[in-house]
Amino acid sequence: MARRVFSGIQPTGLVHIGNYLGAIKQWVDLQYDHECFFSIVDYHAITVPYDPKQMPKNTFDAAVVNMAAGLDPNKSTIFIQSHVPQHTELAWLLNTITPMGRLSHMTQFKEKSRMFREGINAGLFNYPILQAADILLYKATLVPVGEDQVQHIELTRDIARKFNTTFGETFPEVEPRLSEAPRIMALSDPTKKMSKSIPGSYIALTDSPEKIKEQIMKSVTDSGPQKDVPMGAGIANLFMLMQEFSPPDVYQRFRSQYDEGTIKYSELKKTLAEDIANALTPIREAAQNLAKRPDYVYDSLREGAHKAQSIAKRTMAEVKLRMGLI
Ligand code: TRP
Repeated sequence: MARRVFSGIQPTGLVHIGNYLGAIKQWVDLQYDHECFFSIVDYHAITVPYDPKQMPKNTFDAAVVNMAAGLDPNKSTIFIQSHVPQHTELAWLLNTITPMGRLSHMTQFKEKSRMFREGINAGLFNYPILQAADILLYKATLVPVGEDQVQHIELTRDIARKFNTTFGETFPEVEPRLSEAPRIMALSDPTKKMSKSIPGSYIALTDSPEKIKEQIMKSVTDSGPQKDVPMGAGIANLFMLMQEFSPPDVYQRFRSQYDEGTIKYSELKKTLAEDIANALTPIREAAQNLAKRPDYVYDSLREGAHKAQSIAKRTMAEVKLRMGLI
């Protein structure tokens, strides 16, 4: 039987090519031979300071851009987390079997606590329990995520085991699935990861060809290939992007020119910018079309929530029965 897949999408307002290669692309591929659930996790997003006025737009945009990039409501169940109240209901129950010590060791919690000194709330601390509930509610066994989420998936597995040994076999074994895509670095500073919070570092999925060209032409490289000096991080990053977005022979040609020392970075950048623009044009256009049809987008999300809820209800009934809640 096809495995059930779950992943959560943060409604952060901007999706860049690093997110696309690292996450969305593998979700799109999984849809063809797995039963997939993708949730826009608005309950997770509110655990750090945020603007409630921006939230509806961010949530809508997350749905639009992911659908435009290939998440298909006819193949997968795509929904907004807060539309399925069983997520928080199960999270409460799982709270009671999760040791506080485990939560205080979560890297993401420690990082976010450092970043948002003022706003550290119980929700941020309990965030991984809600994530475990997201996954276990659907008894998903495969969770495609980035490296930074592996610790949360391991915690999910431990919570499931604890539940099973305490209350009886209920949840299956959960496994993270890491993308094989390379880590895309910031165009403006290739020692850091591409990030929407570093201006000039990223190309958004909906950027125009002109904007893409501007960003790539500005990207940091070095003074050129030198004998016995390893390739600089900036140019290595551009080659990585070329491998993802350009035809193999184009990549090979520039690679050979690099090895021979005849490469012109400006030409590589021009070609790369065109190839990225070509690859992103269908996504940008699909996003523009979806944005003009908000009713279609909201209807799909509501339908997704409905499908999700029918499974979520069954799991909750089973969990409550096992826990002695009548
Ligand atoms: N915490 C994840 C992130 O920051 C998002 C997420 C929420 C998630 N629930 C999930 C990912 C369940 C996988 C499974 O990216």
